[in-house]
Amino acid sequence: MADYSNRLIGEHESIRNLQGLMDRVAKSPARTVLIYGETGTGKGLVARIVHAKSSRANKEFVDINCAAIPANLMESELFGHEKGAFTGAVERKIGLVEAANHGSIFLDEIRELELTLQAKLLSLLDTYQFRRVGAVRMTPVDVRFIAATNKVLLSEVKAGNFREDLYYRLQVVALNIPPLRERGEDVLVLSRHFIDRFNRQYDRNISGLSPEVREIFLKYPWPGNVRELENLLERIFILEDDDEVLPRHMPDRILRTVRAGRDTVPSVEETIAGSAYPHGFHEATADFQRELIAHALSATGHNMQEAAAMLKISRHALRHQMIKLEMRGA
Ligand SMILES: Nc1ncnc2c1ncn2[C@@H]1O[C@H](COP(=O)(O)OP(=O)(O)OP(=O)(O)O)[C@@H](O)[C@H]1O
Ligand SMILES: [Mg+2]
Repeated sequence: MADYSNRLIGEHESIRNLQGLMDRVAKSPARTVLIYGETGTGKGLVARIVHAKSSRANKEFVDINCAAIPANLMESELFGHEKGAFTGAVERKIGLVEAANHGSIFLDEIRELELTLQAKLLSLLDTYQFRRVGAVRMTPVDVRFIAATNKVLLSEVKAGNFREDLYYRLQVVALNIPPLRERGEDVLVLSRHFIDRFNRQYDRNISGLSPEVREIFLKYPWPGNVRELENLLERIFILEDDDEVLPRHMPDRILRTVRAGRDTVPSVEETIAGSAYPHGFHEATADFQRELIAHALSATGHNMQEAAAMLKISRHALRHQMIKLEMRGA
C-alpha cells in the first residue's frame, strides 16, 4: 500500500544527500527533473515530494505512466484535442499537460514514450507551448516535468530508443535513488517505519525484527528494493500471529539467497543443533551441493566445462543440477 506521508525515510548518507537535493530542486526554477532508480526504490515517492515541496504544491500533480497508455492515445492524452480532430473527437478535450498548468506532471517510465512524442515534449520544454491535436495555434503552459526511469537512459540513447537531445535536457537536474542494498542499515530503519505503520493499520503490536531477521535483512540484496520490504512485512502482519518478525516468516527465496551468500554452509553440528535449515535434510544437502558448485565455478573462472570436470560430473549434469538448485548462470 502506498504511503502518502510524503517523507523519504532513511539515515544513510546517500539518502540524506538525496533529501537535501530534493529540497533544493523542489524550490528551484528547474522545468525538468529526472529521477533514476531501480524498481521499488521510491521514484514515485520522490516525485510527489518534489512537487509537495515546490511553490507548485497547491496546483495539480498529474501522474502519467508512459508504459500504461497505448502509444496511439498518448498524444491526445497529453496534449488534448480540438473538436473534430479525428473520428470520435466530438468535443474539445483538455490534455493532461494543460490540466497540470502551474503544477507538475510526473512522467513515469519516460523511456516508453514514443520518439515522435519525445520530440513534441522537447519542443514544449524549449518554448513552453504545445499544440492540441488538430489545433492551429499553440497553447502556452507552465508546468514542471518530473520524469522517472529504471533504465539507464544513455544506453537507450545509444540503442536509438531515446532522443539524445531530450536525454541531455532531462539530465540537467537528475536525482539518483540508490538501491536498498547500498543503504547500509536503512533497511532496519525502514522496517521500523513500516512495522509502526502496520501496527496502527492492522491494530497489532509487533515489537520488531528478531536479531536473526535483522541479520538476514542486512545480507539480503533486495532486488525489489523498498517495495519488496514493505510487501514482505505487510504479508507477515496479515498471515502471522507472532509478536516479533521471525526467520520462519521469511520466504524460502530470501533464506536461500542469504545462505548462498555465506562463505561456507553451516557445519553438521550447527545444522543439527540450530534452525539453519527449517525444512531439514533436503534443504541442507541442496545447500551443500550449491556450495560445491559455486566453488568449482569460481575456481575455474565460471567455465562450465572445467567446473564439471573438477566435480567429476558431465557438463550436462552440472547444468541440470544448477537449474534444479535455482542457481544463477545455469
Ligand atoms: N525512503 C522511503 N521511505 C518511506 N517509504 C518509501 C521509501 N522508499 C519507498 N517507499 C515506499 O515503497 C513503495 C515503493 O516506492 P515507489 O512506488 O515510489 O517506487 P518506484 O521506484 O516508483 O517503483 P517502480 O519502479 O516499481 O515504479 C511505496 O509504497 C513507497 O511509499
Ligand atoms: Mg513507480
